[in-house]
Amino acid sequence: PRAHVELDRRAVVGPVRRRTFGSFVEHLGRCVYTGLYEPGHPTANEDGFRMDVVELVRELGTTTVRYPGGNFVSGFRWEDSVGPREQRPVRRDLSWHSLESNQVGLDEFARWLKLTGSELMLAVNVATRGILPALDLLEYANHPSGTALSDLRIANGTPEPHDVRMWCLGNEMDGPWQTGFMTADDYGKIAARTAAAMKAADKDLELVVCGSSGSGMPTFGDWERTVLEHSYDYVDYVSCHAYYQVHDGDLGSFLASSVDMEFFIDTVLATADHVGHKRQSKKRMNISFDEWNVWYLEEHKASDEVNDEWRHAPRQLEDVYTVADAVVVGNLLMTLLKRSDRVTSASLAQLVNVIAPIMTEPGGPAWRQTTFHPFSITSRLASGEVLRPVVDAPTYLTARHGEASLVDAVATVDDDRAAVFLVNRDLAETARVTVDVRGLPVSRVVEALTLADADPYAKNTLADPDRVTPAANTSAVLADGVLSVELPPVSWTAIALG
Ligand code: AHR
Repeated sequence: PRAHVELDRRAVVGPVRRRTFGSFVEHLGRCVYTGLYEPGHPTANEDGFRMDVVELVRELGTTTVRYPGGNFVSGFRWEDSVGPREQRPVRRDLSWHSLESNQVGLDEFARWLKLTGSELMLAVNVATRGILPALDLLEYANHPSGTALSDLRIANGTPEPHDVRMWCLGNEMDGPWQTGFMTADDYGKIAARTAAAMKAADKDLELVVCGSSGSGMPTFGDWERTVLEHSYDYVDYVSCHAYYQVHDGDLGSFLASSVDMEFFIDTVLATADHVGHKRQSKKRMNISFDEWNVWYLEEHKASDEVNDEWRHAPRQLEDVYTVADAVVVGNLLMTLLKRSDRVTSASLAQLVNVIAPIMTEPGGPAWRQTTFHPFSITSRLASGEVLRPVVDAPTYLTARHGEASLVDAVATVDDDRAAVFLVNRDLAETARVTVDVRGLPVSRVVEALTLADADPYAKNTLADPDRVTPAANTSAVLADGVLSVELPPVSWTAIALG
């Protein structure tokens, strides 16, 4: 196909927000244990954190990291995870049917985040606990000193408060799989009360109320409306979660997954704005898209990796990603950028081993999955403001998402540079794309990288960790204000202009 992209310097969506490049660490499978934490590993530091993983996280360019769950948080007692390690209890985690040793907890994780240069985003357990434990955690984490729990944190070796700004009021409370799941009415009331109490302690907290676990949930829409009717005045974000996978070999639909993400965002914003308008509120609710990724959930459900045994850090949800998966991940990130006016925080779920861009082998190496690359490159290149592109490209019909453009694009522009991100969803043909950049402060191609492969199912594995890496796209040329580039079938491309 041929496609043309028009970029107008004045068509600004919003700023590039660093929190768009957030991620997520849950106490699930081997994300924490033998993932980011493995005492005795050759690269482990004095805290037991794998420095090879820290280096990859830095390269990935994550900003805010959501912690400690996920479904895990709905059975979590935060007090278990602080203080002398030898006194921490082993608990059962019902959500993933495994054992939690609590050897990594809030204070250690905050130290790990400092190594990676990321911000901590905490979730409180509103499912099986109440307002007081949430307030206690807030006091422990954020109060400077001179109270029982802030002094306990200091006695535990953390003199400075963690100063956590973003807090999730539970996780996926609409999902029947959630320990202690609730109706929208019940959750909305609890979320409002918890949020009001937390803001009484610190009015500047940024609180995230649970939206839907996916746009396919039977309660989608009604859930957001009811929850926000209760909690609108106390919260700052409503969450969205979305996972995509290839169903029945239908790669065409899969490659158009971002069409669903756009629908999801637009519908949640419409619902939130409706509630805000009814309340005559001046506040505009933003979205925290705090779980998004490709996840082969159907295959995991059919497997026996979550079973009746009580194991510590079992191998669970260790998806091995393909080139096509990476193209979709890159495209979903482009979509989040395109909505950066109202999607002001996001978390790729997750970070290490569990549906993750980074994999590790116990005692062995850490490596980049295919999906690592579009995330890392976008985090590195996107800066300044996001431009709303006009994309003129042929469309194709998908079974799951209706009509979709064969080429998708977004661009960012800064004082003296710009970046253009493109995908070609065509399964067989190269896309020849022109991008009008005359209005941008750029005159040359600085870097052009494409992720593609003759085999869209090619993967990176322990045996062949660099099978799929981005390659220079030498077809990218900027002349007379027009950027031309060829995009191979099923590919993701980033072009830095200066
Ligand atoms: O990220 C994996 C799981 O997906 C999370 O624990 C849960 O919130 C979601 O269902």
